[in-house]
Amino acid sequence: MAIQRVTIFEFAPTADEIWRISQHDRDGYARYDAESGLLSFLDTAHDAKQRPEIVTTYAGGKATNVARVLDRLLVDEDKPCVELVTFFPPPPRGPLQELEFGDVRGIPLRPSTAAGIYVQCLQIAELRKVRARFEVVNELEESGKMQTTRRCIEITLREGGGSLNFSPRIVWSQRAADAVKSRAVEVACGTDLVVMAGAPPMWEADPRAYLTSRNFYAKIIEDLEPGCQVSIDTRGRYLHECLIAQKTPRFAFMNTEEFSELMKLSHGGDTCVARNGERAFPGTLLAHDQHGCWVWDGELPDGRDPFSEAEHFPSIPVRRIYSTIGAGDAMHAGFLKEWVCPTQDTRHKAQDSRQEQKPPGLESIPCSKPYAPCSMPLEQCLRRAVFYSQVVAAVAISNEKATHGIDSRTVECKFRQGWGK
Ligand SMILES: Nc1ncnc2c1ncn2[C@@H]1O[C@H](COP(=O)(O)OP(=O)(O)OP(=O)(O)O)[C@@H](O)[C@H]1O
Ligand SMILES: [Mg+2]
Repeated sequence: MAIQRVTIFEFAPTADEIWRISQHDRDGYARYDAESGLLSFLDTAHDAKQRPEIVTTYAGGKATNVARVLDRLLVDEDKPCVELVTFFPPPPRGPLQELEFGDVRGIPLRPSTAAGIYVQCLQIAELRKVRARFEVVNELEESGKMQTTRRCIEITLREGGGSLNFSPRIVWSQRAADAVKSRAVEVACGTDLVVMAGAPPMWEADPRAYLTSRNFYAKIIEDLEPGCQVSIDTRGRYLHECLIAQKTPRFAFMNTEEFSELMKLSHGGDTCVARNGERAFPGTLLAHDQHGCWVWDGELPDGRDPFSEAEHFPSIPVRRIYSTIGAGDAMHAGFLKEWVCPTQDTRHKAQDSRQEQKPPGLESIPCSKPYAPCSMPLEQCLRRAVFYSQVVAAVAISNEKATHGIDSRTVECKFRQGWGK
């Protein structure tokens, strides 16, 4: 059965801002020591004021990054309905409650806090094929320690080449977490694939709470409809909880550092990753770094020598690397694009050749897992998607505009050149 509806959850509504400052005797930063990473600022006692240039502002958050890249990769004839669902606080008492919003290209904006409205505007500005959907959850009302939207500011140095990143955490209450989880499960009804990425928000869990930050993703997965698959990119305990739960993700992405962390969380680190020594697993783990991607399909890695049994897909060489920030998110998006909508002409070729070769009665290949994305053998679909994801990562890192410069033509061209070689 083809995947028709994809829902990407963003639990951290974020505005990313990149500022640039110059070294200046009076107003700028005073010194940058690249070796220690120490940046010294002048204080304001003698009237020094930082005067950053605002380089760019866009909607951030790990899931939003995945949605943005996926939006660039989907071509017009790609049919799945992909939604990016973001959870916002309600407007505070006062005039913001009276604001009336219309639709923008059929997408209803929702009254929220000023920051919430800002993030909604940033999200719709960059999405064409992925549909933004804004869910206001009353329990997210900002009070006490709650921080339900954020602005992440990256200060880059004109001369030094370094940068300084401010990335506030999203902080919820127990009540807010329970409400968002219920809403998320409700929104996902009828969806074939749910995508989650990044660390979940934090909150001080009630001592006897069923839902904690640690098991937030795992509990969402457990409550989704039985046929709904999940693709997740998260780390440590958040991931581990998902892998030992009753219902597990179909795909789990992580970089190799996160993979090592996961292995340490397993039983003593010397058996398999989780599940009390049980290695059979109804999904696929993918670990990646600058050297490429390692894939364990249908079986969890053996903690003693995990990489020897994985299938390895080397990273694609590039002439110049501009930035590797967001390469993992781009890779996740690339994988999803090819898994959900296989690149057209090669798909047809593959289907044709399969039909030619298969004896009658064997047209439908038995699947060990539900929901084959296309009519190719699952292993082939998986390999194609991993190769495609490596192409997208290569295009992202070798692009002056990083993930913002990814375009489907360049990716498809590189994919067709390289696939099957
Ligand atoms: N230095 C590099 N050289 C070649 N390829 C790279 C390099 N860095 C990243 N890549 C490509 O990007 C993919 C994902 O990168 P990486 O593993 O660094 O992601 P990540 O740590 O999850 O990043 P993020 O979370 O910031 O998006 C790699 O599998 C590889 O294809
Ligand atoms: Mg990552």
